[in-house]
Amino acid sequence: MDDLSVDYGNWVPKKMLILLLVLTLLFGSLSFVPVHIIVRVVLGILSAVFLLFLLYFYYSYHVFGANGGEFQKKILNVVLDKLPWDSQGKALDIGTGSGALTIGVAKKYPEAKVTGIDYWGKGWSYSQKMCEKNAAIEGVGEQTNFQRASAANLPFDDGEFDAAVSNFVFHEVRDAKDKREVVQEALRVVKKGGAFSFQDLFLSEKIYGETEDLLKTIRDWGIEEVHFTSTAYLVDIPRLLRVPGMLGEIGIIYGKK
Ligand SMILES: C[S@@+](CC[C@H](N)C(=O)[O-])C[C@H]1O[C@@H](n2cnc3c(N)ncnc32)[C@H](O)[C@@H]1O
Repeated sequence: MDDLSVDYGNWVPKKMLILLLVLTLLFGSLSFVPVHIIVRVVLGILSAVFLLFLLYFYYSYHVFGANGGEFQKKILNVVLDKLPWDSQGKALDIGTGSGALTIGVAKKYPEAKVTGIDYWGKGWSYSQKMCEKNAAIEGVGEQTNFQRASAANLPFDDGEFDAAVSNFVFHEVRDAKDKREVVQEALRVVKKGGAFSFQDLFLSEKIYGETEDLLKTIRDWGIEEVHFTSTAYLVDIPRLLRVPGMLGEIGIIYGKK
């Protein structure tokens, strides 16, 4: 039965929860070893800190998932809702992960051919096989294809796609120091007049600089129509997740090239 269920994973990797649990238990048990009291206190504090992180990320894992409000799905749907596309031609999903957005585009636009790329690194439990399996189960296996590539250097020609989407990826791209270059690379492969919808931590000044300046820069690249909305206006993100580093700085840039 399980083999027939889609698995879109969780933005809080299970590996991270397990690591935090191990560190909590390890430092907690070491604090009972009869060594100098200061060492024991430090170990106890470390254990408590890891426990707090564990509780926070377990809560996030829960609210992202199906039983906690499906915030992962709700946030992903914003990208689809904002894409100003008429569905003619080819679309690209950059950093597809488990294939959820690629599959979402394919289901919304049955006429389209959709490519999902990702580097599928060790940090996530996503893979190309997982994407292909999810697409087959969702009935869009023929309409989609998945390939390994980096968002920093897309293996596509200028203007190859009629539309491009991406969700919660650009800030993670390690092989580009300046994350604005990742946005530019994504727009490079969109044809003139094509549509785009990118969601990321665009409100983080540390990553992207001042938002107005980012939008001006994108317009200066010759992009005709550029809109920005903070995702918090569109999705009622739980208060505890509205912190920098989580979803506190998430926004969506969309428009036509
Ligand atoms: C938070 S997950 C989001 C996955 C998917 N877009 C979603 O919304 O469910 C971030 C994804 O970015 C991918 N990623 C990180 N750096 C990348 C890069 N340089 N090129 C392609 N994908 C990358 C990771 O492998 C991971 O799948």
